[in-house]
Amino acid sequence: MDAGNDIILRAENVTRDFYRKSEVIHAVRGVSVEIKRGTFNILCGRSGSGKTTLINMLAAIDTPTSGDIFFEDVNVALLNERKRDELRRKNIGIIFQNTALLAQMSALENVEFSLSVSGKKVKNKKDLCIEWLEKLGIRERRNHMPAEMSGGEQARVAISRALVHSPKLILADEPTSELDSKTSFRVVDLFRELVDKEGLTIVMTTHDVNIMDVADTIYTMEDGVIVSERKGNKAI
Ligand SMILES: Nc1ncnc2c1ncn2[C@@H]1O[C@H](COP(=O)(O)OP(=O)(O)O)[C@@H](O)[C@H]1O
Ligand SMILES: [Mg+2]
Repeated sequence: MDAGNDIILRAENVTRDFYRKSEVIHAVRGVSVEIKRGTFNILCGRSGSGKTTLINMLAAIDTPTSGDIFFEDVNVALLNERKRDELRRKNIGIIFQNTALLAQMSALENVEFSLSVSGKKVKNKKDLCIEWLEKLGIRERRNHMPAEMSGGEQARVAISRALVHSPKLILADEPTSELDSKTSFRVVDLFRELVDKEGLTIVMTTHDVNIMDVADTIYTMEDGVIVSERKGNKAI
């Protein structure tokens, strides 16, 4: 691996303003951050500090007002819509609160659908999907429709769906907010294992102080800027 390849994702002086009537909200104000390949990163901070706005831009779902985002040295803003979609489908697993499961599909079908749109070649697709549901502890719910599952169960299907196509990078906005503390630990332990064993890169937001130390690096946001960066303990 060459030296430049070490950084999978980079934000350079990124800002995002929202305009509401005559008011301007500076949700993110000049964030520069480099995410190393094969690391577990947590973005924490109070509600309203800009975490969701920043992670949306890192996921190429939203565009910065100024500044640049690079995925593997490709400036994401310069990609057309189709290329950006392809980047997300193949390389990035997204776990966002507002990306709901497809209501007319069962848990298993939601995961299978994600795997098929990724274009990843797998021998036995169904077995792989069931394996991921099993890892998240919801195998027995596989034939349930989203409306027949609790918020926490739906969240775990959404996590299975994001991981099934083995993306290089996982971006997750408060993935544990609907989960009880035992299940939250299970999810972050799984994330830790994927980083250590498969070399995955994870960036997730949370305000749960109990799970933060499992990360390699914890960034704290305040009022649209990253105010501190510290190392985690890895084990919790
Ligand atoms: N679409 C939007 N329109 C206007 N203001 C927004 C929008 N999204 C977020 N904001 C504002 O930007 C700031 C940061 O929000 P957000 O990124 O959601 O914070 P967090 O995820 O840390 O709670 C907040 O003041 C919020 O009200
Ligand atoms: Mg948020």
